[in-house]
Amino acid sequence: MARDILVTSALPYANGSIHLGHLVEYIQTDVWVRFQKLRGNRCIYVCADDAHGTPIMLKARDMGIEPEQLIADVGAEHKQDFDDFLIGFDNYHSTHSDENRELASEIYTRLDKAGHIARRTISQAFDEEKQMFLPDRFIRGECPKCGSPEQYGDACEVCGATYQPTELKNPVSVLSGATPVERDSEHYFFQLADFEKFLHDWTRSDHLQDAVTRKLDEWFTAGLKDWDISRDAPYFGFKIPGTDDKYFYVWLDAPIGYMASFLNLCKQRQAQGEELDFDTFWKADSDAELYHFIGKDIVYFHALFWPAMLKGAGYRTPTAIHAHGFLTVNGEKMSKSRGTFIKARTWLKHLPAEFLRYYFTAKMSGKVEDLDLNLDDFRSRINSDLVGKYVNIASRCANFITKRFDGELAGTLDNPELFQRFAAAADEIVEHYEQRRFAQAIRQIMALADEANAYVAERAPWQVAKEDGREDELQRICTTALNLFAQLTIYLKPVLPETAARAEAFLQVDELQWADLDTPLTGHEIARFKPLLRRVEQPAIDKMIAASQEDLAAKAAPQDTAEPEPEAPKKAAEKPAPKAAETGADSDTIEIGDFAKIDLRVARIEAADHVEGADKLLRLTLDVGALGKKQVFAGIKSAYEPSQLEGRLTVMVANLAPRKMRFGLSEGMVLAAGDSPRILSPDEGAKPGDKVK
Ligand code: MSP
Ligand code: ZN
Repeated sequence: MARDILVTSALPYANGSIHLGHLVEYIQTDVWVRFQKLRGNRCIYVCADDAHGTPIMLKARDMGIEPEQLIADVGAEHKQDFDDFLIGFDNYHSTHSDENRELASEIYTRLDKAGHIARRTISQAFDEEKQMFLPDRFIRGECPKCGSPEQYGDACEVCGATYQPTELKNPVSVLSGATPVERDSEHYFFQLADFEKFLHDWTRSDHLQDAVTRKLDEWFTAGLKDWDISRDAPYFGFKIPGTDDKYFYVWLDAPIGYMASFLNLCKQRQAQGEELDFDTFWKADSDAELYHFIGKDIVYFHALFWPAMLKGAGYRTPTAIHAHGFLTVNGEKMSKSRGTFIKARTWLKHLPAEFLRYYFTAKMSGKVEDLDLNLDDFRSRINSDLVGKYVNIASRCANFITKRFDGELAGTLDNPELFQRFAAAADEIVEHYEQRRFAQAIRQIMALADEANAYVAERAPWQVAKEDGREDELQRICTTALNLFAQLTIYLKPVLPETAARAEAFLQVDELQWADLDTPLTGHEIARFKPLLRRVEQPAIDKMIAASQEDLAAKAAPQDTAEPEPEAPKKAAEKPAPKAAETGADSDTIEIGDFAKIDLRVARIEAADHVEGADKLLRLTLDVGALGKKQVFAGIKSAYEPSQLEGRLTVMVANLAPRKMRFGLSEGMVLAAGDSPRILSPDEGAKPGDKVK
């Protein structure tokens, strides 16, 4: 019987670009969803941008635009990235939507009525200059345990200690540099402990992976604490019903965004006269399945708060949470300086989306382990598996059918048992896909591809083609090989939807379904074979890495800022707190890329002369090494006699547009400071032409 399955991926924050780390999750989810659809289940995949919170508010402020504008722009970029990576959402919505506002206030109101919301006045760090309360990650100071400077308000990255922001020594606001003061404010809390018994049981049944249950045990032992769900103005989010200036903390309405995106889809489908009912999927006794795919950093929210909220508000709870680990590149954390912090868009400019889909899938175990993208392994894997094994089967046989038989496949197979064996492999492959053991599924599929190639090698159609009277046999051999190729295409279709579509066009069949595994294509005309995939060449990878480093030069500020999380365990350090440049701490700051535009060089003053008719200027003839000689007029006459300058080293701006002056052309500018300007000089060892960095 067909199952009703609702699937989500975590909602990406609407203030940064999608990168390969994110894609671990969206690709994993998409492969699973496509597999379910291919099997004939009604599987619906929804997602949305996570549009609320302090970092988004501050980023918009810093850019001088409304947050609504920022989230619209980022939302459009995310959608395009996901489309191009073939992530087949049934709906992509936003948490800043009518549906989400309604559902969030409904759920909150139900929880409040049931007595699960407490109100208490607490004292919090406040930035008097910016007139706002400071989330922990917006406060820095010295670690109270080890004294390391520049640590965040919640945890020390040097010694690992966790503490309250009030314990930091010499704390400063990241936003203004001011010393935060303590200020009282009433906050609203969700009483998680009310659900202790329910959560205890829920987390111990098969809703979670073992590693996740073990992690949760630590939190249970530490005790379930009240969860602060309110934030004071200014905040970008939904106002809490019945208050003037309290907002829902972003993590309150974020998971509700899953429901909101689904509700929005129901409305769209109903408008088209299709049946899709919200309650069927969300009512307390729903028979539909509900799965959330998430990263290991946000388990606390999904395995504790979220089921408790749903339970308390009278909704169904998730069937399972599928957590995954983090991406490393070449064995290390993604790094902007190494060029391994690769954005989705940068990848797409150099390499096909499907290659990343295949590589990730081939390494996914379904466990909460980290996943490594090793770029050498990536290249050889794609070339050997996809090009060398899978596509090779078709490319070795297709032309015989086209040239010798007018594109017509034989009426029977040369080796029906082999075809049967390929079909029978489905049982195990299905189980691997179902349990998200994708690596094992792929291993098995590639073992079949090896068998298919061994069959072709053994039957050697190119040999048979040379011998008279073996026409029928040739046609049957090639027909068999192409049928094995079609079966492999079905097995790989969740991973390679585009290649599968090209293979379908070549085979001249409608969209292949799982059920087609058992029915051979015989007596059927196929199209001419065109290469389905190209090999990965090293220069494409090199260029992508170089481009990722250039991205960095163009934009030094971190793209991926997360909402700070007060109570929950810390997120991976990959999600840095906002740096001054993007939080509006000082709107006069520039990006490193702006600085990089200035070509500063060491120059030797070869000659210095008075200029007739000028009271402030000296004419300098500069030797700038490889850049040659330059003439510069400098306003330093009040401080120097020309003879004092000759032979000295200084620093000049070498790429300033030349300017015609009354006395001649000025081809740059030397750096000087003070009212009666003194020139800068580099330390010993610098040579003319050296770049100042
Ligand atoms: N907005 C929250 C999720 C709210 S869900 C109701 C969030 N957003 S995020 O943009 O930071 O991350 C989105 C998802 O991508 C998360 O599941 C996160 O774990 C995952 N990943 C982000 N960076 C990742 C890696 N480097 N590696 C693997 N997954 C990563 O968290
Ligand atoms: Zn410390």
